[in-house]
Amino acid sequence: MPADPARKAALDILTAALGRKAGLEAALEGPALAGLAPQDRNFARALVMTTLRHLGPIDTALAARLQREPPEPVRMILRLGVAQLFWLDTPAYAAVDSSVTLAEADRETRGFKALVNAVLRRAAQAGAPAADPASLAPPWLFARWRAAYGEKSARAVAAMIAEEPTTDLTPRNPDEAAGLAEALEAQVLPGGSLRRAGRGRIEEWPGFAEGRWWVQDAAAAIPARLLAVRPSETALDLCAAPGGKALQLAAAGAAVTAVDRSASRLRRLTEALARTGLNATLAAADAETWADARAFDAVLLDAPCTASGTFRRNPDVLWTLRPGDIASLAELQSRLLDAAARRVQPGGRLVYCVCSLETEEGEAQAREFLKRHPAFRTAPAAPGEGGAPEASVTPEGWLRILPQQIAGGLDGFFVARFVRADA
Ligand SMILES: C[S@@+](CC[C@H](N)C(=O)[O-])C[C@H]1O[C@@H](n2cnc3c(N)ncnc32)[C@H](O)[C@@H]1O
Repeated sequence: MPADPARKAALDILTAALGRKAGLEAALEGPALAGLAPQDRNFARALVMTTLRHLGPIDTALAARLQREPPEPVRMILRLGVAQLFWLDTPAYAAVDSSVTLAEADRETRGFKALVNAVLRRAAQAGAPAADPASLAPPWLFARWRAAYGEKSARAVAAMIAEEPTTDLTPRNPDEAAGLAEALEAQVLPGGSLRRAGRGRIEEWPGFAEGRWWVQDAAAAIPARLLAVRPSETALDLCAAPGGKALQLAAAGAAVTAVDRSASRLRRLTEALARTGLNATLAAADAETWADARAFDAVLLDAPCTASGTFRRNPDVLWTLRPGDIASLAELQSRLLDAAARRVQPGGRLVYCVCSLETEEGEAQAREFLKRHPAFRTAPAAPGEGGAPEASVTPEGWLRILPQQIAGGLDGFFVARFVRADA
């Protein structure tokens, strides 16, 4: 019997996402889903996301039932099988049988059919693993979060891993938020983001074609609001693509220059500018060596990072991240911060942010930056400024946004605002 196409696609996507080859986003956009009927595509996507959101407990359940490590493709089939047993509405016999069929379909896994059958049957008999939030995160990351934020907060962060995120939108014109919310059946969040629980093709949602909003997590919309650009000002976004924050700066009326070293990612910003009718000057360049001598009123540095705060949409990041990545990214971030500082006019502002939960990429960067650049000081965020959760404001006036800080969740972010005080 041939394996069903949705489960085969899920297996390919899960393998690519966890193999660090493509990343989940690219794998979801790749050929695996393209040829499927809509219903199969939705099931394949749900299967992958459910597996990734419960990978910790799934692997614990498998470890208890495996005497030795099976080949990687077999482990992937087992992971999908356990996800179906406990977190999707698949009857146990169907979860087991379809996993056996999936194993049978490939020469590499065919010899493990009996193992797949036995392990999944035993897992089904044992029942769903206990719901311990800590088990949802890789142990080394959970230990880091516990050290940084304390046991209670770390557990609340980890509990968000299993949650399906809503879709947040940023209106081009903040005055339209209420009207758009009605048309979209969305909720207006404190900073003006719109939150929609609905699914489906966003291209078909009211206002998309007219460019009246773009998709942007509620937390991701906060840094640009903190920069508070005015229409007469010049603004530089140094790591701009795919461009949600550059669109915000342009929508606020600033003369925006958007730099990113990835020309292909910048193309997404070009498309979004065309759709929204907003303007920005784009430059595909390395921020450290960009040959442009101008200084700007406002500079935003949304630096490349581990993205550990984006696990609600990209749960694969938690499982592909390695401890060494944090140190090498932190080094890059401090060089980019130095490059950003050189672009700030006397009296100008700099907002630094990362969608990371790791303090080396956040608090430590801000602290070291202030030591290296005595001309800058922190411009503290006021409680609730830009829609930031009140609990996110640190004693220094930076924002440490944790995913559980608003109902329904938001991405984890660190944000710091500095002013160049030697005006
Ligand atoms: C976190 S993403 C930026 C997201 C973007 N600000 C937004 O709101 O959509 C980081 C970006 O930094 C870019 N990048 C990484 N290193 C860079 C460098 N040395 N110079 C310029 N851009 C860089 C990456 O291509 C990536 O697009």
